[in-house]
Amino acid sequence: MTTLLSVQNASVVFRARQGLLSSTTVRALDGVSITLDRGESLSVVGESGSGKTTLARVGLGLQRLAAGRVVFDGLDITGAPEGRLKGFRRRAQGIFQDPFSSLDPYMTVGQIVEEPLLIHKIGGPEERKGAVQAALDEVRLRPAEETAAKFTHQLSGGQRQRVAIARALVLKPELIVADEPVSMVDASSRAEILYLMRELQEKHGAAFLYITHDIATAYHFSQRIAVMYLGRIVETGPTRQVIGNPLHPYTQALLRAVPEPDPANRTRRRAPVEGEPPSPAHPPSGCRFHPRCPYAFEGCDREDPRLLEVVAGQEVACRLWKGFEEEGARLPG
Ligand SMILES: Nc1ncnc2c1ncn2[C@@H]1O[C@H](COP(=O)(O)OP(=O)(O)OP(=O)(O)O)[C@@H](O)[C@H]1O
Ligand code: SF4
Ligand SMILES: [Mg+2]
Repeated sequence: MTTLLSVQNASVVFRARQGLLSSTTVRALDGVSITLDRGESLSVVGESGSGKTTLARVGLGLQRLAAGRVVFDGLDITGAPEGRLKGFRRRAQGIFQDPFSSLDPYMTVGQIVEEPLLIHKIGGPEERKGAVQAALDEVRLRPAEETAAKFTHQLSGGQRQRVAIARALVLKPELIVADEPVSMVDASSRAEILYLMRELQEKHGAAFLYITHDIATAYHFSQRIAVMYLGRIVETGPTRQVIGNPLHPYTQALLRAVPEPDPANRTRRRAPVEGEPPSPAHPPSGCRFHPRCPYAFEGCDREDPRLLEVVAGQEVACRLWKGFEEEGARLPG
């Protein structure tokens, strides 16, 4: 396996307005590193405001960094002028949360899916038409010819997101970054679209960065997972290993909050993560999770833990695991 995308120690700082006259800085990402091998899938999970979308934009070369760098297939794309990113823009595609605002309402579905081929000057008219139909067919917007003639307002939310997926796939990208691709789609189509994306990712062998606030979908969707809290990765490792044995108290709390079926066959929340996430403009001292952590102990409000490999392949930023015994690494509860 070779590394396709490597985000190294990325920090992103935004200036946010405070009232009319003053402003404050928000460190949306604070020293975040991820790598993605060719064909590999990585889920990034965390609550609202943890920096997921910012990281997605960093991976797509759309976000200015305050520190760190982004390397794609050996090429440093950090701060590169747009003219130098042509190849990268073809090889890396994004799928975003909102299929309503990301698709032009004045274009037909066929034109929307064809546009990236025109931008990148790929194929003649016949070849492009064939590629558009194949992409629509792959996302099961069938019959493809009929769908290509429609406008997006004639489609459901789920169908529009399929158009967005077809538009991303038509360039046969090596990297797909999907930022909460089903959160604005009606519940009945969510699982279907997620499985379709996984199937197509496997078929085409693209690397996949899947951004979600829903740790349960990460389980089905990715080989590795990174859990974010207030602009940092607090736990990362193979998905099954992390979900089977979460070692960061925040990961454990996210898993406890996963809805599970009750006897009446409705879903309910078990135990939402206690308390509100603090503002990234004013992160807590020491361990950022300490005000909400049921395991917090002496010194957690002063000492800022960094990621440490606790068991093979599983890194955790929590002071509980300093000087741990590998075999006994398990949170109670
Ligand atoms: N353009 C911006 N200007 C100022 N602050 C921003 C900007 N974009 C993001 N932020 C702030 O950076 C932090 C991280 O935002 P981000 O959108 O990456 O979080 P997220 O994890 O994607 O959240 P959500 O689940 O709500 O989509 C938040 O505090 C957000 O308010
Ligand atoms: S370092 Fe302390 S406060 Fe932070 S997650 Fe670990 S136990 Fe909780
Ligand atoms: Mg987001």
